[in-house]
Amino acid sequence: MIVRTMLEADVPAVATITSDCYRALARREQYTTDELSALLAECASEEAVRRRYRGFAAFVAEQDDAVVGVVAIERNEVAQLFVSPVFQGRGTGRRLLAAAEAAIMNSGCRTSRVWSASAPGFYEKVGYGVTEKRVCAGGPLKGRPLVVLDKILTRD
Ligand SMILES: CC(C)(COP(=O)(O)OP(=O)(O)OC[C@H]1O[C@@H](n2cnc3c(N)ncnc32)[C@H](O)[C@@H]1OP(=O)(O)O)[C@@H](O)C(=O)NCCC(=O)NCCS
Repeated sequence: MIVRTMLEADVPAVATITSDCYRALARREQYTTDELSALLAECASEEAVRRRYRGFAAFVAEQDDAVVGVVAIERNEVAQLFVSPVFQGRGTGRRLLAAAEAAIMNSGCRTSRVWSASAPGFYEKVGYGVTEKRVCAGGPLKGRPLVVLDKILTRD
């Protein structure tokens, strides 16, 4: 598996991975039909991916010439992280997050932050600590729990 900078040509694959992840999360977290429809429309169409990733630095994981995951950062925040459901549990999320953290450190920041509604346990597993517990103030998951997690970055 390689991790490389995301290109415009990756948008369709990233949209598909994002949709697949939201459909799987909807089953696991029992999102309502309206919540899932809003997530797919606002976050997972090709147009939404282009719009949302405009201000981000983004990297994709590629396995056998296929994109299997994506991570995006905005300043020192992890803004997106998705691994195709069929590739989850094989270390891809950890690899992508490491690439994001290296980019954050290269930009001069020493802490990384993420706001996670769906995978706080993953971030805790890879060294993040819970800073705050909130609820989503708006968007498709308005009212659902949201966890803010931080990690001090070191070069080791
Ligand atoms: C969360 C996600 C990115 C993790 O990617 P992944 O490739 O499955 O994770 P990895 O295989 O690298 O897992 C690294 C470690 O975290 C653990 N882990 C993975 N997901 C976890 C979760 N949801 N809760 C707790 N631990 C988790 C793994 O067991 C593994 O532990 P190990 O090293 O002891 O074996 C992926 O499951 C995903 O895309 N989920 C749907 C979208 C999502 O929720 N994204 C986060 C938005 S903030």
